[in-house]
Amino acid sequence: MSGHADPIPMISRKSGPLKGVAEVPGDKSISHRALILGALSVGETRISGLLEGDDVLATAAAMRAFGAEVEHLGAGEWRVNGVGVGGFQEPENVIDCGNAGTGARLIMGVMATTGISATFTGDASLRSRPMARVTEPIALFGARSFGREGGRLPMTIVGAGDPAPVRYEVPMLSAQVKSAVLFAGLNAPGKTVVTEKEATRDHTERMLAGFGAEISIEETDEGRVITLTGQPELKPQNITVPRDPSSAAFPVCAALITPGSDVLVPNIGLNPTRAGLFATLREMGADLTYENEREEGGEPVADLRARFSPDMKGIEVPPERAASMIDEYPILSVVAANATGDTVMRGVKELRVKESDRIDAMARGLEANGVALDEGEDWWIIHGNGPGTVKGGGLCEARLDHRIAMSFLVLGMAAQNPVRVDDGGPVATSFPIFEPLMAGLGAQIVRANQ
Ligand code: S3P
Repeated sequence: MSGHADPIPMISRKSGPLKGVAEVPGDKSISHRALILGALSVGETRISGLLEGDDVLATAAAMRAFGAEVEHLGAGEWRVNGVGVGGFQEPENVIDCGNAGTGARLIMGVMATTGISATFTGDASLRSRPMARVTEPIALFGARSFGREGGRLPMTIVGAGDPAPVRYEVPMLSAQVKSAVLFAGLNAPGKTVVTEKEATRDHTERMLAGFGAEISIEETDEGRVITLTGQPELKPQNITVPRDPSSAAFPVCAALITPGSDVLVPNIGLNPTRAGLFATLREMGADLTYENEREEGGEPVADLRARFSPDMKGIEVPPERAASMIDEYPILSVVAANATGDTVMRGVKELRVKESDRIDAMARGLEANGVALDEGEDWWIIHGNGPGTVKGGGLCEARLDHRIAMSFLVLGMAAQNPVRVDDGGPVATSFPIFEPLMAGLGAQIVRANQ
């Protein structure tokens, strides 16, 4: 998995109108956590709607390597027989997390407070990403780590056999770091307290409570304070994974910028820590409605209906909304290129340490297709000229980043000339059915070598 298969060059052409229903796959963040918490409970957890993308399959394989039984029963249906909190066994081989920062960081957190060692690696993208943000807090529990320069993978973690609980203030806005610390705290006696300055996605907290852990959350002047009591016995659960709002973003945004489109994207999780993109699009003037709003498994859910929206205007995205749409800035920049005026995105330096440097990756590809923009270390501005004004004709680098590849493929659907992407392979990490789903709506996206 850590090697990279042959690149899959792709071409996206002027498309539409897009029509129909887009059934997007399960939520990536929730899928990782369901497998991990299933592996840490005693007895049988059943999961339906699991995302079967490469990232999540790597986490399933990792849970097997640490001793859990993980069985694929049918499409999206999985059974996990867990080993209990603190029950991880030492894996026989290196743990390969593929492209998945979430998988790597969360699993490192779990094993940091068990008396075993494990070595982690991943693909070239993951091996370039900062891991000190996890190794620093897990060192406070007593874990030691030995990685490459700059705290990069491959890295061996020697877990703490006799861990102490920790108080930790997360220095950046990161749900992965918060979750790694909470997962480490699971096997430490006493109370682990994690503070984050602003709310990031809260799936870990919700799911820990669902598995029976004692966890409380307090909003204070210093931020959101989460207190977890260690060494619970987690009880196995039946989990239905909601569909991923970050994947829904692609057919939704494609419909907004492609003339004549009207697309329904049903059953999308609208947890407020994830739904920032949709609020932003509506502020820009998108014809995006929530239908059939309801609650499922403790999460707000709705069917999204997106129609071509020729009158969208650029806006200043409120920086405090960044955490709730951090994975959606690449596709927002594509919408912004088709809106009128400037879309200003500030407070987004975390974009530089995702699967790629997402500001740089998008900026270079947008420029290659005739889009004007400005950028700084933690901000960027897209100068949009309105619907249908993107010239296209450029070649974009995906940089091993699924969301970059999909964003440029959507760009091509509303551009004057075809947009080429050097490698569509990474799309399989989070949205393995992207190509047939988009083709079913009327997208003209093809593999260039076929
Ligand atoms: C995720 C958290 C975010 C997000 C990633 C998934 C998670 O990363 O970008 O795709 O599941 O916790 P950070 O924690 O680095 O912000």
